[in-house]
Amino acid sequence: MTLPATAPPPCPAALAALAAARPIGVFDSGIGGLSVLRALRAELPREHFIYVADSAHAPYGQRGDAFVAARSLAIGSALLAADGIKALVIACNTATAAAAQALRAAHPHLPIVGVEPALKPAAALTRTGRVGVLATQGTLQSQRYRLLQAAQPAHVQFIALACNGLADAIEAEASSLAPAGASASHLIEQYLGQLGPLGMQPGAIDTLVLGCTHYPLAEAAWRQHAGPHIALLEPGPPVARQTRRLLAERGLLRPPTDAAPGHLALRATGDASALHAAARQLGLAA
Ligand code: DGL
Repeated sequence: MTLPATAPPPCPAALAALAAARPIGVFDSGIGGLSVLRALRAELPREHFIYVADSAHAPYGQRGDAFVAARSLAIGSALLAADGIKALVIACNTATAAAAQALRAAHPHLPIVGVEPALKPAAALTRTGRVGVLATQGTLQSQRYRLLQAAQPAHVQFIALACNGLADAIEAEASSLAPAGASASHLIEQYLGQLGPLGMQPGAIDTLVLGCTHYPLAEAAWRQHAGPHIALLEPGPPVARQTRRLLAERGLLRPPTDAAPGHLALRATGDASALHAAARQLGLAA
């Protein structure tokens, strides 16, 4: 009697190596998440990344939670089904507020890292006790943001401002489509004017939280209008460190024995010109 030929079961080490070689998915409504991807690639240069800009549905900031959650779930599922991602980074404050919970419920075994406005580091840093928070309407109106602000020390005052139109202006400038007079720099100047006095003197705002991942891409304009001494906080580096921690805990970091360098795939659901231009500007793509 001959026994049917069966392949030997793959050994656990081979399975673990396969899992660690899979890419990390990163998404945003558009190019903003590149500010997070820049930090991720610096922290994890050996990892493979797939970045999705949901440009067909951007901006997310004033779309409402249900829409943003549906888009986030669709992108997460597509990245898992088509690319077998080993982790997902929600490189968007608005999408994190609207969809982090739903994404974790839909994919309980997938490590998922979200971004949130850096209120806690700002509270630790401010000397005047006044912090400006700049973000989208969706982020600032979310329950998640309310809870985050409520958890900060009572002596720190947060002055939050929804910067409608700013993510769009940054996006348009990246692909050189910005109409004259509507530049990101002009909007930044206007919004900072609305926040109140900036500076180191008592009663002034000395720390700015850039609570939308698009905003750090206009760093030169923030610096120009806020002045050299105001602290600007962005979430990229802490998100990158948290991603490394989660992958290490699960044995999912790509091993150093794997010689090929980490690669990056850039995708857009709509027009991709801003994405490619911004990635080149940031040195993320050739
Ligand atoms: N970059 C996104 C964020 O961090 C959203 C910008 C938008 O699409 O409105 O909130």
